[in-house]
Amino acid sequence: MSQIILGIESSCDETSASVCINGKIVSNIIAGQTIHQNYGGVVPELASRVHQQNIIPTVHQAIIDAKISKKDINAVAFTRGPGLLGSLLVGVSFAKAFALGLNIPLIEVNHVQAHILAHFIAPKNSQNHIFPTFPFLCLTVSGGHTQIVLVKNYFDMEIIGQTLDDAAGEAFDKTAKILGLPYPGGPLVDKYAQLGQPVYKFTEPNIADLNFSFSGLKTAILYFVRDNVKTNPNFLAQNMNNICASVQSRIVSILINKLKKAAKLHNITQIAIAGGVSANSGLRAALKAEAQINNWQTFIPDFEYCTDNAAMIAIAGYYKYLNNDFVGQDISPMPRMAI
Ligand code: KG4
Ligand code: ZN
Repeated sequence: MSQIILGIESSCDETSASVCINGKIVSNIIAGQTIHQNYGGVVPELASRVHQQNIIPTVHQAIIDAKISKKDINAVAFTRGPGLLGSLLVGVSFAKAFALGLNIPLIEVNHVQAHILAHFIAPKNSQNHIFPTFPFLCLTVSGGHTQIVLVKNYFDMEIIGQTLDDAAGEAFDKTAKILGLPYPGGPLVDKYAQLGQPVYKFTEPNIADLNFSFSGLKTAILYFVRDNVKTNPNFLAQNMNNICASVQSRIVSILINKLKKAAKLHNITQIAIAGGVSANSGLRAALKAEAQINNWQTFIPDFEYCTDNAAMIAIAGYYKYLNNDFVGQDISPMPRMAI
């Protein structure tokens, strides 16, 4: 008998639905929200309203693309947290109503765990894909999180290092804001960085253990821009590519240096990256270079599964389904859910 899981993601500003059949992702629909671009960040109230508009057409399209009927679905997996309360509420309420209507079980999924479990999605048209084996290390870098996670099993994960202030994605987004670029700035900083050289040197913070800090870098960039614009009002426009390359190079070196330390400390050579920032070209290139030097086997998700998506929720739901790990209709969102 087939095991068909519908995954639903609505933790931030992407409404997404995906169908997983017997551990294979057969559809993954992502509806983004452009409304936040003018505000320099996600506006929670606007995000939940757009989720409400998008959730039904998104789920509908995911079911059509999967070439199934909703009656074929065996369970609904949804993001319970962490995330924005209003956004989560839309996905959780929809999942509960859908499961109730079809009399099928509900599966709660932790969004950060799901980013890591995206490594168990086989890329399209790939045969003999190699998945990570346990234990492996995963650098989880998104707009809300920056963690090094020791992944011991599908749902047994330990955070061995994390940011003490801003997340890496936030560092990209706040830099973009200082440079006058719209939200989300990460992809734009990446785009300009590829055209420039890291000629400006920003100091690497000296943070203990496997932890990170990005708030000092943000302040350094703010002062750097302020001082240079004072003497040359066109400084930003004339040097955008090199500034982006310099900032990106520093963020990447902070991440990679801690990852190297973690790998050594835990004697692990299987290294993965996950979350929105894992789409970054500099980080992907640096990881590949380090893999050569350190004999690492690295795992980098397809772009589609780096930023928020429901395929990662559906695959996490599939593994929970195999464990009969269900929740009741009394479940509610958990904005501060731990890994
Ligand atoms: O995982 P995600 O989609 O949402 C959260 O759970 O936060 O990550 C979004 C973050 C944003 O900060 C965005 O700027 C960043 O990922 N991001 C990037 C790139 N693509 C997305 N940062 C740097 N380079 C990129 N190419
Ligand atoms: Zn995310």
